[in-house]
Amino acid sequence: MFTTHKIHKIEGKITVPGDKSISHRAVMLSSISKGKGRIKGFLRGEDCLSTIACFRGLGIEVEDKGEEIVVHGKGLYGLEEPQDILDAGNSGTTMRLLSGILAGQEFLSIMTGDSSLRRRPMARIAVPLRQMGASIEGRNNGNLAPLVIRGGNLKGIDYASPVSSAQIKSAILLAGLYSEGDTTVREEIVSRDHTENMLKSLGANIHVENGIVTVRKSELYAQDIQVPGDISSAAFFMAAAAALPGSHLIIEKVGLNPTRTGMIDVLRDMGADIEIDNLFVSGGEEIGDIMVRGRNLKSASLTKEIIPRLIDEIPVIAVIAAVAEGKTIITGAEELKVKESNRITSMVTEMKKLGIQVRELPDGMEIEGPNEIRGGRVESYGDHRIAMAMAVAGLFANEPVEIENSECIAVSFPDFEKKLKAITK
Ligand code: S3P
Repeated sequence: MFTTHKIHKIEGKITVPGDKSISHRAVMLSSISKGKGRIKGFLRGEDCLSTIACFRGLGIEVEDKGEEIVVHGKGLYGLEEPQDILDAGNSGTTMRLLSGILAGQEFLSIMTGDSSLRRRPMARIAVPLRQMGASIEGRNNGNLAPLVIRGGNLKGIDYASPVSSAQIKSAILLAGLYSEGDTTVREEIVSRDHTENMLKSLGANIHVENGIVTVRKSELYAQDIQVPGDISSAAFFMAAAAALPGSHLIIEKVGLNPTRTGMIDVLRDMGADIEIDNLFVSGGEEIGDIMVRGRNLKSASLTKEIIPRLIDEIPVIAVIAAVAEGKTIITGAEELKVKESNRITSMVTEMKKLGIQVRELPDGMEIEGPNEIRGGRVESYGDHRIAMAMAVAGLFANEPVEIENSECIAVSFPDFEKKLKAITK
């Protein structure tokens, strides 16, 4: 059982593990590039290890050399028919992005995942990939894993995505590398663009204008990739430090891609004191140090335009909204219902257990603050971000907060508990 207690403040200078989205993409794109890809700062969380296992299953040699991961890329057509079912574990990114690559392969692949992933919608990638010419079968009329894919002979499409989702966009763009003609993806609100950035730096024929992305069949060439710290992991510490007066936290070398920094904007709206320092760009990704000083925060209003830029940070934003002055309203966030758990229901249920005044909305939640947070025992629903958000709640609670099934934290942040201990006073 993982338990957190009330603290006085957060203080220190830390780094956080590598960005999950970029780590997945680094292994995937290096595997289908020509040459050796050396990845530094790779996240050794369970999700990204699932991606490595899948590519090994597809005949790619991946070496873990400690300070770097070396992927022996075999080019676009070097993958081999897997001898067994590929297991994406808990990782939606693995299953959805890999589906795009498998759609370009003439062989047969079967992909499955854990019980959470087997409940998550796959029609969102299967529908456009079928339009491109791939055969994709699955349970529930092709919407649920296990998925059975036989690809090849793809044609480019022009796809207006009904959901702002980097996983959908990326699956289509990756299939576009294997397609005749242009493949274009349009989104109403632009989702994270790490796939586009990495494709560009590996030499793909890709064009981005006004959020519309077009890719053509192109060979990729391996490059060294430096993975920045994950802002979605940093978010737990940023939130706690921002809301605890007297705190002073520096998180070094965090990825600050503008499609990922919605949390910083929201914290500033809530009155937080945040500065960015030592900015630089590597592999098309902005990286910098985040400095946070604690204050008493006020409520915020989050609407659909900002949601894709902070989608994974909403659980911890909800927690600090509980101690902020005023009513926080989160809307336009229905995508939360199809994450590792239904994150609206999970958060509302567990926050209520801690005595927080929170109301579930069809597409978000309302939190009335400030609350005295009680302690107690809460459930993670096997969802890493719910477990870590609850751990942050415990830092503000009058009694300890005990988190059941907290092992799932290893999905994205294996040494979360140790890092948290190092900065709590
Ligand atoms: C991810 C995209 C997001 C995010 C997930 C990682 C990615 O999902 O929630 O944790 O790496 O592309 P959607 O783009 O489907 O919302």
